[in-house]
Amino acid sequence: MKLTLKIWRQKDRNDKGGIETYPIDNVSEHMSFLEMMDVLNEQLVSEGKEPVAFDHDCREGICGMCSMQINGEAHGPDRGVTTCQLHMRKFKDGDTIYIEPFRAKGFPIIKDLVVDRSAFDRIQHAGGFVSVNTSGNTQDANAIPIPKTDADNAFDAATCIGCGACVASCKNASAMLFVSAKVSQFALLPQGKVEAKRRVLNMVEQMDKEGFGNCTNTGACEVECPKGISLENIARMNREYLKASIFSE
Ligand code: SF4
Ligand code: FES
Repeated sequence: MKLTLKIWRQKDRNDKGGIETYPIDNVSEHMSFLEMMDVLNEQLVSEGKEPVAFDHDCREGICGMCSMQINGEAHGPDRGVTTCQLHMRKFKDGDTIYIEPFRAKGFPIIKDLVVDRSAFDRIQHAGGFVSVNTSGNTQDANAIPIPKTDADNAFDAATCIGCGACVASCKNASAMLFVSAKVSQFALLPQGKVEAKRRVLNMVEQMDKEGFGNCTNTGACEVECPKGISLENIARMNREYLKASIFSE
């Protein structure tokens, strides 16, 4: 395939940045999107030009690093996949593809397509953990009865990889889907009850401090989420938040 890539280039946080055009040839439909970016970068390096900076790590949909807005969609046109799992067969010979960083106040651009998502780490640090003893003389997990649906829903929430596509897709740059997944994975399990009130209050407070917007039930986040995290988690977090605010410790 021959493609025309329109890529956001930005030297650093303070640079104004802009779209640059790169023609690319010999792209196989079997390549992943990131492999296509590798080919482009090899081409740029051989021409003595600066390669495009982009985040990646596992390249198998686990780490959540490969944040890219492709033709206006977080992780591109496919559903339920990250950019590293997106294949070039989703595009046609002669296509023009726009590639931009995730855009949100809470995700400042570091360089080109790389954004700073440490805001998510700070939200996690504010309460996304349990402090019950999980080593040594702990109770066997199987000895604690947990309804199957609760276990399944907690597991589904825990599949969030913190990629930030929900924020990038939301007109309010809301991080509610991410935060609600992290709250839900504990709220549904007995181990998470100990700090439940503090957790939701602190994580929501940190989310607001980081400059993310609020949820207005548009649902774009759920559509673009590569892990299919459900909006039900946001409803659960709102209930947890209300309970914690009324019956605070
Ligand atoms: S909720 Fe989905 S889109 Fe948002 S960070 Fe988690 S995996 Fe990514
Ligand atoms: S590189 Fe890890 S999820 Fe894409």
